[in-house]
Amino acid sequence: MCGIVGAAARRNVVPILIEGLRKLEYRGYDSAGLATLNGNLDRVRAVGRVADLQTRADQARVDAPTGIAHTRWATHGGVTEDNAHPHFSAGAGHEICVVHNGIIENHEALRRRLREQGYVFHSDTDTEVIAHLVHSRVVSGDTLFEAVRSCVRELQGAYAIAVISKAEPDTVVGSRRGSPLLLGVGVDGSGKGENFLASDTSALLQVTKYVAYLEEGDVVEIRPDGYTIVDADDAPASRPIVESQLSADAIELGQYSHYMQKEIFEQPGAIANTLEMVAGASALSPELFGADAAEILGRTRQILILACGTSFHAGLVAKYWIESIAKLPVSVEIASEYRYRDSVALPDTLVITISQSGETADTLAALQYAKQLGQSDTLTICNVPESALIRQSKLRFLTRAGPEIGVASTKAFTTQLASLFVLTMVLAKVHGRLDAKREHELITQMRHLPAAMNHILECEPAVRHWAQRFAPKEHALFLGRGVHYPIAMEGALKLKEISYIHAEAYAAGELKHGPLALVDRSMPVVVVAPNDALIEKLKSNLQEVRARGGELYVFADRDTHIDPSDGVNIINLHDHAGPLSPILHVVPLQLLSYHVSLARGTDVDKPRNLAKSVTVE
Ligand code: AGP
Repeated sequence: MCGIVGAAARRNVVPILIEGLRKLEYRGYDSAGLATLNGNLDRVRAVGRVADLQTRADQARVDAPTGIAHTRWATHGGVTEDNAHPHFSAGAGHEICVVHNGIIENHEALRRRLREQGYVFHSDTDTEVIAHLVHSRVVSGDTLFEAVRSCVRELQGAYAIAVISKAEPDTVVGSRRGSPLLLGVGVDGSGKGENFLASDTSALLQVTKYVAYLEEGDVVEIRPDGYTIVDADDAPASRPIVESQLSADAIELGQYSHYMQKEIFEQPGAIANTLEMVAGASALSPELFGADAAEILGRTRQILILACGTSFHAGLVAKYWIESIAKLPVSVEIASEYRYRDSVALPDTLVITISQSGETADTLAALQYAKQLGQSDTLTICNVPESALIRQSKLRFLTRAGPEIGVASTKAFTTQLASLFVLTMVLAKVHGRLDAKREHELITQMRHLPAAMNHILECEPAVRHWAQRFAPKEHALFLGRGVHYPIAMEGALKLKEISYIHAEAYAAGELKHGPLALVDRSMPVVVVAPNDALIEKLKSNLQEVRARGGELYVFADRDTHIDPSDGVNIINLHDHAGPLSPILHVVPLQLLSYHVSLARGTDVDKPRNLAKSVTVE
């Protein structure tokens, strides 16, 4: 939701903090700020993007070896400079600054108590209570490290924080629970040590590849010459330092204009990476999902999939696949709904969470709730190793899509689908519903996916042309049937989130039960038209739209032989790709929303009101 960077070094860290924020800007981009220690505690904040903060920081000429910085996605309190982080507390000779990602659920009670102690609040944020709380401890004699350690025991909710104190000019203290924070261990140009904190590795690649993932409840003190970690029980802890495999190139735009464009075109490679272990094999093994997978998948009698947004759509596609190929019943729930409703936990349920980030608060809470209900067989499909979801699940499968920066998820979705198809096959095999011949056929089709996707990407010029006609529209309908209905849903989500065109998806058979009333000449209707068992039914649905004057934009498999005519625009794709077809059919929909967004001049990678990782409710 928000991005945090902290640094304790012997050189000016302001450029490092700002570059780190640039890399984290996908996590939030309403406002940004930094605070530094160099004799004084200086704070610079700006509403808007990191570029606006940079301008302010240049004007203020801040230059310091210690500092913290933040890019914000507003939760508590509007987008104003007063609400931008860092938040500040001062008095009795002490000055404290705090940056925070997450939500402090008991902030009102803490605020009341702190007000009674005389603290005055200058923002509407929940974060400001942390600044005053830490200040109250420092004033009573604690070091910053001690103050943060006792203060986090009072915080309820999710947080990653970084804190500095004027009294300790070379120290930054961080802590995390529920929101990510990692430690970066580096060496400056003259061989001297320096240490960092950040929400993710991408912010630190500029200075180090060596990182340690902090555990839930950890508190860490960093100084240029070292660091100290204590765990949730306040006991000394050590966390392994690992060399990040993330390359700097993976997070650069390169030849592309936007991350979304880059990520759409990276999909053939991302799928090839995700399927690497599968495509080389002649048969699939349950161990792809973890050491205990054979036992867990073998005893699975039904499946519950929990996810949000695009990842939820991947789960919906998986339901069609698993029920048809592995013959196991599947329910798919929006995580934010599931976590708060009474549901009946069935024995031998495999709970699957799907997430690009692995830190989506609703999905994490839904997983915890499912476990509380006694469903302990868990599997997560995720793009981020070491993420909270991965660590909290017994089984796992990593989508190897590489970092996804654009807020609109693209390559994460198609790699989730590829992973879910592998899972479908493994489940079918474990339950005796996949013979060797069919397994071989499906592995061969999966091997062909990257090439097929390259072929689909060739439709971009035609899609760009359609986008010009779409750009002035304010509404659009998306239709699909069967396993392609969730693909229509994903197409509608993509269009609305980056172009702000109101888009809705319907199972095409539902049209006449209501939405047909919306169709007139001004309503573009986008249709996902694979040549599957439902194609003749779908063709009838298209007639229903044409009869009401609606203009059809049909992405059709070449072998459907739907011909263009007045009001019926067709882009022909490949021949039908069998069960893997949804993975291909979503690509032109991604391209459509990308080009419509370009034509409308909206911010493709950072659409209004959204953030990449939704680490709060
Ligand atoms: C997708 O384009 C969205 N930005 C959003 O729906 C996203 O898929 C959702 O927030 C879930 O995120 P996750 O996959 O990281 O859990």
